[in-house]
Amino acid sequence: MAFVPRVFSGIKPSGDLHLGNYLGAIKRFVPLQDTHQTIYCVVDMHAITVWQEPEDLRRWTYEIAAGYIAAGLDPTRSIIFNQSQVMEHAELSWIFNCVARMGWMERMTQFKDKAGENAEAVSLGLFAYPSLMAADILLYKSTGVPVGDDQKQHLELTRDIAKKFNHDFRRQTKALGYEADYFPITETLATGPAMRVKSLKDGARKMSKSDASDLSTIYMMDDADAIAKKIKRATTDPEPLPSEAAGLEGRAEAENLVGIYAALAGTSVVDVLTEFGGAGWGRFKPALSDLAVSVLAPIAGEMRRLVGDFTEMDRILRDGADRARAIAQPHMDEIRKIVGFVR
Ligand code: TYM
Repeated sequence: MAFVPRVFSGIKPSGDLHLGNYLGAIKRFVPLQDTHQTIYCVVDMHAITVWQEPEDLRRWTYEIAAGYIAAGLDPTRSIIFNQSQVMEHAELSWIFNCVARMGWMERMTQFKDKAGENAEAVSLGLFAYPSLMAADILLYKSTGVPVGDDQKQHLELTRDIAKKFNHDFRRQTKALGYEADYFPITETLATGPAMRVKSLKDGARKMSKSDASDLSTIYMMDDADAIAKKIKRATTDPEPLPSEAAGLEGRAEAENLVGIYAALAGTSVVDVLTEFGGAGWGRFKPALSDLAVSVLAPIAGEMRRLVGDFTEMDRILRDGADRARAIAQPHMDEIRKIVGFVR
């Protein structure tokens, strides 16, 4: 059988889906369906590393799955499911907790950012989070992972865990017939504009689900008025747009809005500046609003329809979990043997 490369990615149900999730992740999940076996997960076990109201967790789980489908993922081609339905994620993450080193985890900048001054009081799960992420990916022996820029360090750690496991258990994996590495060294798929969408209010911060200011973030379910208002009030500088990409240097807010435009239009920053170079914000912002509404409104409409249909959503998630398990279980059977667990 021809080798089909496998892609895995996930989004945490810890808030409403936003434009950063769409441009950095979901939009790029869709075309991979044509070239890869694709597995897209709603990572509810990751979400609970910080407190989630159970009712919110459930609602956001459906919302993200609906967002996947509304944005163009086909549940018959991609495997779409929520993480907690496939127990093997937790099992492999425990094994990886015993492969990864404390020092590796301590270097994770996202942990440091999230824990802040309060590192002693955060959950143990938040610290071990990257090891669960490595388990998500390697459970399926995934070869590529599409993510936004903020996840790159976690993927480096995934590669470190894979390398150490491959090295530590070389004799056992060989005995099982594996001449080469047991786990693949997964590639990060993160290129193009808008890999790090910034807050609309502060070009130094990324757009995120947990931003306190509502004006910073465009949510996937925002209506046309909300989108237009947020773009109109986005922070900018007084200069017109440059004609070349080099002119965006040191202008984080301008760079962000141009990057968003390019990603939404499916073109490049260079093309956007060819069209808008010399234009002021009074011309660019309404054009960006119109484009954002034309792309996002149909997705939001479809999301609203899907989140209301629990029977259908449950069916899709259960079917996805069954198909995910069919890949995960034979791997896990081998991994238990490799590690030396008696069954
Ligand atoms: P999460 O839920 O924070 O974000 C989901 C995806 O959206 C991307 N993203 C962004 N991209 C561009 N600009 C932004 N402002 C922005 N904000 C978020 C993220 O890079 C990500 O691709 N740890 C992961 C979830 C996860 C995962 C995995 C991902 C768990 N297991 C295995 C890939 C593979 C996370 O918290 O993503």
